[in-house]
Amino acid sequence: MKRIGILTAGGDTPALNATIYGAAQRANALKVEVVGLIRGYAALLNPQTPHVLLNPLYSAIPELDPCKGGTLLGSSRTYIEPECAESRDAVTRSLKGLQLDGLICIGGDGTINGMQPLTEILPCVLAPKTIDNDLGLNYLGEPEEWSAAAPNAPDSAAVHRSGRQTIRLEDMVNYATPGYATAVFVVAQMVERLRTTAESHHRIAVVEVMGRQSGYIALGAAYAQPDLILIPEVPVNSEQLTQQVSRIYDRQQNVVIVVGEGVRDAQGNELGATSPSFDPAGNIRYSGAADAVTQMLKQSLSPELFAETRRFEPDSSPLFSRKVGHTQRGGRPILFDRYTATQLGGKAVDLLTTGSNNEVATLQYSEATGFEVSSIAANKLRDRNGEIRPREVHPSFFDADRLHLSQLGIQYLRPIFSRSVGADDVEYIRREVFDDGCLTSSYQSITTDIRKRIRRL
Ligand code: F6P
Repeated sequence: MKRIGILTAGGDTPALNATIYGAAQRANALKVEVVGLIRGYAALLNPQTPHVLLNPLYSAIPELDPCKGGTLLGSSRTYIEPECAESRDAVTRSLKGLQLDGLICIGGDGTINGMQPLTEILPCVLAPKTIDNDLGLNYLGEPEEWSAAAPNAPDSAAVHRSGRQTIRLEDMVNYATPGYATAVFVVAQMVERLRTTAESHHRIAVVEVMGRQSGYIALGAAYAQPDLILIPEVPVNSEQLTQQVSRIYDRQQNVVIVVGEGVRDAQGNELGATSPSFDPAGNIRYSGAADAVTQMLKQSLSPELFAETRRFEPDSSPLFSRKVGHTQRGGRPILFDRYTATQLGGKAVDLLTTGSNNEVATLQYSEATGFEVSSIAANKLRDRNGEIRPREVHPSFFDADRLHLSQLGIQYLRPIFSRSVGADDVEYIRREVFDDGCLTSSYQSITTDIRKRIRRL
């Protein structure tokens, strides 16, 4: 193998550059050229196929910085329609023109689906990324447990009944995806900071975090000690929530609730998707789970609860909601993500050079040996209908009565976060954020720098 391609698709994450860097470093050692495709699969549909050589003379270009968030290649949610002959022809032409012997796609479930038709043209492997931490399995064979959504119902209405009451952490396929740890790092700080206002002003803060149908980011927010966590996997029971919020407010006169954006009611309706819109991969765009929970509580909480704390306050609501939003997807990746992402990038190169096709590099954990990289056939992630479902928080990780992390949930998070932040992750704030130079120079975008290196067919 002499020349491979690499692309980043789907939503950005902080560790994409680190994955590309890991791939480039491994390729340098093996004397393989790495060609980066600009803006994901969109590059392959473009007759000019914009691309950049990432390791001329087997040395990574200086713009490829593993500590910088996002992707120097750019990303898009453009996917290749397997049924569309025109797209297939365009892609085949681009791949031949670039003279690639293999392709690494960095992404999540949508990216695997985009990669599938390409595996018939050249060997392709996936290096995983997603802040949602939903690319993987709680155990092998889990996709078999999904039953399809009823005809005409949205795909997100498909039903999963876990066949196992509890799981072994060693059995998880792809324990954590690059990007997840940094997202939790941002979310935990925001939740902690919102507690200050809730506490000082005796309010109830409802904080929405990303993750789509999967509650892993909400779960990780437990590090900031919110009082309650709502995850999409456990339907919101208004009565239970009202009782718990009332009890906590009565005791401490402030409450912090973390809400995963995909939370549902008992009927399975997604509270944050009242007028659903979809992205090009068919994923629902959520718009207001925290607002919906806030509204629910405004109606159900007794005004008596606030009689003392709000007595001389102007007529304002004691409840407020905030979204962490895209800040949880941006900025410098923390140590855990940088380390695992570079390892997975390197593993993806090894998979290609040892003859794999349609394979996914994974991060495995065992108490005895810690983290190591491995791989799984992409098709093992598919259910009986060929769908790749988002990995859900396993029921044994969550205490649905307390609306909080269970003991096993704590054990799950520990290996990721016990050493996830490096000294340089903290030092960088002191050194770079308030550097005087930031005041005197304007922002130098990586997009401008990389444009000078872009070649076209
Ligand atoms: O999948 C990653 C993710 O950040 C989700 O958590 C979120 O729902 C979605 O992407 C947001 O996508 P966009 O940036 O297209 O609004």
